[in-house]
Amino acid sequence: MRNAIWLACAATLLVPAPAFAKLANERTPTQEGTFIAPAGTAFFSFAHRFTVGASPSYSVANVPTFHLSAGVLDWAALGALYSTETATVPGASQELELFAKERFLDEGAGALLSASLKEAYNMTSQSADLEASLSKRLGPVTVFGTARGMSNFQYSGQMRAVGGLGLAFSPTPYLALVADASASPMRAATEPPVAWGAGVQIQIPSTPHTLALHATNTGSTTIQGSSVATDTVRYGFDFTIPFSNAKQWTDIVMPEQPAPTPAAGATFDAKAFFTGHCIACHGPLGAGGFGPDLRPVEAKGDDFIRNRIKTGSPKGMPPFASQLSPADLDALVAFVKSL
Ligand code: HEC
Repeated sequence: MRNAIWLACAATLLVPAPAFAKLANERTPTQEGTFIAPAGTAFFSFAHRFTVGASPSYSVANVPTFHLSAGVLDWAALGALYSTETATVPGASQELELFAKERFLDEGAGALLSASLKEAYNMTSQSADLEASLSKRLGPVTVFGTARGMSNFQYSGQMRAVGGLGLAFSPTPYLALVADASASPMRAATEPPVAWGAGVQIQIPSTPHTLALHATNTGSTTIQGSSVATDTVRYGFDFTIPFSNAKQWTDIVMPEQPAPTPAAGATFDAKAFFTGHCIACHGPLGAGGFGPDLRPVEAKGDDFIRNRIKTGSPKGMPPFASQLSPADLDALVAFVKSL
């Protein structure tokens, strides 16, 4: 089972797919929301949550969770969460959760709200865990709801049901202020009543990555981990890394050579020219990197795009006027608009 997940993830890396990113307002610290990696892509994120011990040692303890998943269908993903130091199961240090997740309603595709179901097996607590998530955008606010069921909570032999709510407020598309809380009617009197998280999440402009800074009284980010309220407040971050395109990774060891300028009279291939001259800064899919994301540039008009390509920019783009005939330039402008 574990090998199958790694294989599925590896296989998706070989298939070029559209760029995607999990946005800043698609999760909260203890609720992962309804997002799944699209078919043919893999998704990696890691969360680190720290506590600092008392004087004089000030020893730092970290609860990290690594998430790797692969989109097998546009609405279904397989993956695993792994923590090398968990606060979920008393006495256990590592924690592994294997999961399948399906999104059956997608607001981005016109549905009234987004809804997903995650079926997981927590190997550490030997528990079948289920999580239903809803999310709904209302202007700059996204509301999250989650219901979880666990057959062997914290390896205690007890079942557990947990319900939670979350909010993300996005004053800009790149920024979200987030908070969430969840609780169980089945908790023992000795347990802290509420598992909570709060923080700031940033979509790093011109990259497919998000960075979250948060405070929470939970440990790992598995279904169980997000449901265990501890007495300790941890401060940490998480970072998301979508793998949507194999080429950007093969480039590390086999960089693409610039395409030779075609001989006079040869037909101009705008895509090949783009690959040879533009992707180093604008990314293989034009989604940006050192240079800006080119997908929205169509709105600035043909003349703007043509001039920028011809003359470049003092902000770091070289001019291409001498390498392109007017007809070539037209073809390249059309290609840029098609990104
Ligand atoms: C060395 C890096 C680099 C290369 C190579 C490069 N660009 Fe750029 N490009 C930039 C930077 C930086 C900007 C932002 C310039 C500015 O805002 O003044 C930019 C801006 C642009 C814009 C305008 C985007 C906007 O929203 O304002 C277009 C269109 C564009 N580039 C197309 C291309 C094309 C097509 C190629 C290949 C023929 C290319 N670039 C090659 C760095 C690069």
